[in-house]
Amino acid sequence: MRIDIVSIFPDYLSPLQLSLVGKARDDGLVTIDVHELRDAATGRHRSVDDEPYGGGPGMVMSPEPWGIMLDRLLTPQSLLVVPTPSGRRFDQATAQSWSTRDHLVIACGRYEGIDARVMQHYAQQVEVAEVGIGDYVLAGGEAAALVIVEAVTRLLPGVVGNADSVVDDSFTLATDDPASEAALVEGPVYTRPPVWRDLEVPDILLSGNHAAIAAWRREQAKHRTQRKRPDLYSGDAPD
Ligand code: 6GU
Repeated sequence: MRIDIVSIFPDYLSPLQLSLVGKARDDGLVTIDVHELRDAATGRHRSVDDEPYGGGPGMVMSPEPWGIMLDRLLTPQSLLVVPTPSGRRFDQATAQSWSTRDHLVIACGRYEGIDARVMQHYAQQVEVAEVGIGDYVLAGGEAAALVIVEAVTRLLPGVVGNADSVVDDSFTLATDDPASEAALVEGPVYTRPPVWRDLEVPDILLSGNHAAIAAWRREQAKHRTQRKRPDLYSGDAPD
């Protein structure tokens, strides 16, 4: 997979050199290029924003530099991702779906957002996805781009060593939702020592009975999901 990210703060994306995503890049499993929007800004001041038509606070990103940059990057196969708090929620099913695409272009807006005609124009030639990562407002799309790239990259073949940690069969069976590993949240996990500050690891995990352990974990996951994420729990999910 190839991912191009456009931002006025390319340094904001430097964590993508680290950890799981950095390793996937080093291993050639994903190609990530970060582009500075200002490189596509014409004009003496290389400005990328302007006052909103109709008035109001803040600034809006101008369409011209976006047009120059996106004309360079997009092919008919590309998915244009525009992080915005007003977008549809980015979730695990979205990550799964995007992980099979050849090319993502992520357009990070700042200020009050990107001139709406940019999304309107490119929707005529490629698939455009405006997505938000939660119900809170960030200062720009960069932090969301980090989230999206990590969620998608860990699903690419060969990135996560143990395929079971990406798609857990018991979650799939428990929820009848093969599309989503997030259909249940995970239950508690433990490692050595068996007793820590008077707290014991549940006996079942030391039993060696793998079927019983799997059943216990599924039960824990169900209970935790019902308690902490009733919205996710199959049977009474509001969405
Ligand atoms: Cl994708 N962008 C911004 N600016 N704020 C957000 C968001 C995205 N998702 C949630 N809040």
